[in-house]
Amino acid sequence: MTPPEENPEGSAEFIRLWPTLFMAVTLPGSDAANSILSSLVMQSNAEQEQMTTNYLEQNLFQSDHPAIGWLTQCCTHAVMEYARELGMGDMPEFSLQGWPNVNFRGDYHNLHNHPHSWLSGTYYLNVPDQDDAETFRSDLNPGAISFFDPRGATNMTAMMGDGQHDPEYRRVPKAGELFLWPAFLYHLVHPNLVETPRLSISFNVVVSSRNRQPG
Ligand SMILES: [Fe+2]
Repeated sequence: MTPPEENPEGSAEFIRLWPTLFMAVTLPGSDAANSILSSLVMQSNAEQEQMTTNYLEQNLFQSDHPAIGWLTQCCTHAVMEYARELGMGDMPEFSLQGWPNVNFRGDYHNLHNHPHSWLSGTYYLNVPDQDDAETFRSDLNPGAISFFDPRGATNMTAMMGDGQHDPEYRRVPKAGELFLWPAFLYHLVHPNLVETPRLSISFNVVVSSRNRQPG
């Protein structure tokens, strides 16, 4: 019998099924845009009660403000880049639905995902330094966002070092960064523990029903 290591027919096929593609990019021109967008968001927050929680009742991208126009172009470009990385040939028709988030001291977003969307993303306007936050526990991660393995409890059997072990991907965003991920992915935003507000703009990428695969 031929030992497996000398048998060319025995070469294994490796297929990485069901990966979760996460994208992070720093937007060009973000420094100038962020001060304008931050003022817009704070003004909108002062005018609207529950602005951050009523996210489905608004679409920031419908504004004709030039700074929003810039962000719309950047988000659209990021979605196309994401689709290219996925190897998608034909780009589906999609629209962006966006809303601002203002997290004052103590505010956070509980574990959630974004139904009825293909992708979700967040663009960061201001992520205050949390070094001066008064914390009395070492397991707090103020200002960070965490994403969780969608496969549910797979870490129970994963081995250390196999790259699939950690059920949580946690990251502290920087102002000017845009993150993009599949809308099904559960995530949470840790509390802001300083007085300076944490500001971001989140969005969903919604495809028309005729672009969805049946079944
Ligand atoms: Fe979210």
